[in-house]
Amino acid sequence: MKVSRAALVLCFVVATISPWSMAENHSTAVANRRPLGKKRHGCVAYNPIDKCWRCDRNWANNRQRLADCAMGFGHEARGGKMGRIYVVTDSSDRNVINPKPGTLRHAILLPEPLWIIFSRNMIISLRQELIFTSDKTIDGRGFDIHVAGGSGFMLQFVHNVIIHGLHMYDIAEGSGGMIRSKHDHVGMRGRSDGDAICVFKSSQVWIDHCSFANSYDGLIDIIAASTNVTISNCHFVKHDKALLFGASEKTPEDKVMKVTIAYNHFGKGLTQRLPAVRFGFVHVVNNGYTEWKSYAIGGGDGATIISQGNEFMAANGAAKEVTKRERVPESIWRKWTWRSEGDLLLNGAYFRQSGNPNWAKTYKGHPLIPALPAIDVPLLTKFVGASLHCKAGAPC
Ligand SMILES: *[C@@H]1O[C@H](CO)[C@@H](O)[C@H](O)[C@H]1NC(C)=O
Ligand SMILES: *[C@@H]1O[C@H](CO)[C@@H](O)[C@H](O)[C@H]1NC(C)=O
Repeated sequence: MKVSRAALVLCFVVATISPWSMAENHSTAVANRRPLGKKRHGCVAYNPIDKCWRCDRNWANNRQRLADCAMGFGHEARGGKMGRIYVVTDSSDRNVINPKPGTLRHAILLPEPLWIIFSRNMIISLRQELIFTSDKTIDGRGFDIHVAGGSGFMLQFVHNVIIHGLHMYDIAEGSGGMIRSKHDHVGMRGRSDGDAICVFKSSQVWIDHCSFANSYDGLIDIIAASTNVTISNCHFVKHDKALLFGASEKTPEDKVMKVTIAYNHFGKGLTQRLPAVRFGFVHVVNNGYTEWKSYAIGGGDGATIISQGNEFMAANGAAKEVTKRERVPESIWRKWTWRSEGDLLLNGAYFRQSGNPNWAKTYKGHPLIPALPAIDVPLLTKFVGASLHCKAGAPC
């Protein structure tokens, strides 16, 4: 996006310190800082979610403890806690009406809480969208689990889902047809969009330590009055329209939407929607942004965006503005509460604020994750994505 001279004059916030000297001081400061992590058995975990489980060498016998580590708006996501462990042993997805026992689709349709794990490294190419039922955890720890080259995940009308430790990329449109969507229901489905994960009228969802790239539609869409979602410790690369929260200006029901974006890294090859938000409330805290070609955070329709303790490093030759409003006059968007607090804006990056600077005084929702200093973001996000290589008996 081209930024006009007029736009710069209107800008509320431009980094007051020269971004270049800040960048240099920044790396020196990070290098000189004592580690924030908890060091035990050679394990260093830097952010509060990781500190909750990563240094437990017994994690493999204690997998369901992860469910107690969710923070932010998705903090109530229990996934399949209290349920059985289900081990996926078969990476195939040949039958979407009567899935074979041992497959991910068979597990996800069982009408009971399940903690789903894997027996070996796998590449799962879903023949059609994988339609979730409630109270499920997919836990990729211990193996390299790739969901790639086929359809993506559909969470519709469900609650309590945890998705952890998956690589998801090259997700394609699904042709649709007859697909089982519950243990006792098979229905005719239209084409699926080609999102890696679509959250539709669902709540209590936590997506943690996943790596996302290159899908036909979005990487994560959250729509149709879904709420109470946290996306944390994920790694996003190589995609145009990455995260869409609120499908269109005709869905005011998305006013209930509350999403936390914490400790993620938005890296190479991203263009826009990191995220784009309509109507809802999004807390963007302690994430690292190192590339956005067009904009990082945008949206419209009165969305509230609270950005705290993030590092926004504009790429060379790309847009410098972090934000983008849908095309409406300033008389309208200046009432939208989009605040940048404690963000580190580097290499010319700037965040155009609007709305109520005292929003926190009247905020009544679930307590927000307290922002740590933005200068620590490189450490807080050091272990993002699905490549932790956890081994049973050793800390991750
Ligand atoms: C670091 O920041 C200080 C101000 O806090 C400034 O005076 C100094 O020039 C900066 N150092 C570098 C290497 O840019
Ligand atoms: C979302 O979480 C809040 C508590 O933080 C709760 O009051 C509300 O009922 C939840 N909404 C849904 C749809 O689960």
